[in-house]
Amino acid sequence: MRNFEARNQHFDALVNEPDLMWLGQNTNHFKPHPSVVKAMLDSINAEEFHAYAPPAGLEELRSLILQDLGLKAENASVLVTDGAVEALYTTCRDLCEPGVNFVTTDPGWKWPMAFAKASGATTIEIPIYKPENGYKLTVAQLESAVNEKTRIIYLVDPNNPLGTCHTEQEIKAFTEIARRHKAYFLHDCTYRHFADGHSLAAQFYPERTITIYSFSKWLGLAGMRIGALVAHPDVVERLAGAPPNNLGSNIVSQRAAIAGLKIRDEWFPEINRRQRRNQAEIVRAALQVPGLKVVNYPSQANLIVMECIEAGITPEALCQAYRQEGIMIRQGSYHTTAFGHRFVKVSTTVPEEWADAFCRLLPAMVEKARVLKQVTNLY
Ligand SMILES: Cc1ncc(COP(=O)(O)O)c(C=O)c1O
Repeated sequence: MRNFEARNQHFDALVNEPDLMWLGQNTNHFKPHPSVVKAMLDSINAEEFHAYAPPAGLEELRSLILQDLGLKAENASVLVTDGAVEALYTTCRDLCEPGVNFVTTDPGWKWPMAFAKASGATTIEIPIYKPENGYKLTVAQLESAVNEKTRIIYLVDPNNPLGTCHTEQEIKAFTEIARRHKAYFLHDCTYRHFADGHSLAAQFYPERTITIYSFSKWLGLAGMRIGALVAHPDVVERLAGAPPNNLGSNIVSQRAAIAGLKIRDEWFPEINRRQRRNQAEIVRAALQVPGLKVVNYPSQANLIVMECIEAGITPEALCQAYRQEGIMIRQGSYHTTAFGHRFVKVSTTVPEEWADAFCRLLPAMVEKARVLKQVTNLY
């Protein structure tokens, strides 16, 4: 069977498994705010879906996104996309070409690397799985990886999977490097709402920062495919010229996103408190199993990395053991070939019962992972 067919069947089985506990994709499974659901139902009942939405997104949504980021319309414009991933695709495909470099971290999110490569760029991954650097990219590392060939610096911040987040000082220093080499700074802020504090590169380098925004994680709309890119109007003018979807993103999703932004201040703090509570329980459970270790706590994203290498088991075996109990967690190799054999990633925006089930089963799953004979392919 071809790889894409096998991958599809894997995810098809997951979405068709009733009661699956989704602790692997950082999606948000808490109950949504009623006004978000109502906005979707109202849109469907009004049959808004017959028409195409405006190509750059509903104006109300565009201005609410800017407001959420605290950026000013003079030097920031919004292009609504089919999820953050489409924003990343458009950016990487449009700005990369043969002869240029795309610089990112390892681990990080791999798909934009595939997009940059598809446009002919050379990709450079800077290893950041280093306790001595707090599992973060350093200014010195970036300085030595960037040169006149660098077209894009791609930073996932907070990082998926590490949950580390950069300080304002670090972000400022990164943007100074980018500016000196006229590189675009692709700041993937998909997880920013979960951080205790987050600084936007756009405030230091508005002319060539592209901020990536997602509604999948904080608002829980992953299946609705809605996100955005935010950049200087000149940059958006270029990127809006030939996007993969020039007919407007899903209008039902846009109505949900608008409703979500309106209730964010009231709804989200409790969501974040609950996912941090889940993190704490997972750390407590991991500490009780010899060989398990949590890499960065508290994580600044809705996920936590648990090292299992010293427990003498593979991440894949642990994932499979859990899968047999109806729980999905993610193997590290999804994020990184160099360090993926060391850890699994557990997502925390889930009902407390799911997190508690993960914790309760942990000692038994580690033992089961030791004796699993055959581990099926994971994606
Ligand atoms: C770093 C990062 N960027 C983008 C995405 C995709 O976001 P969306 O669902 O909005 O396309 C993900 C999804 O896991 C991610 O981890």
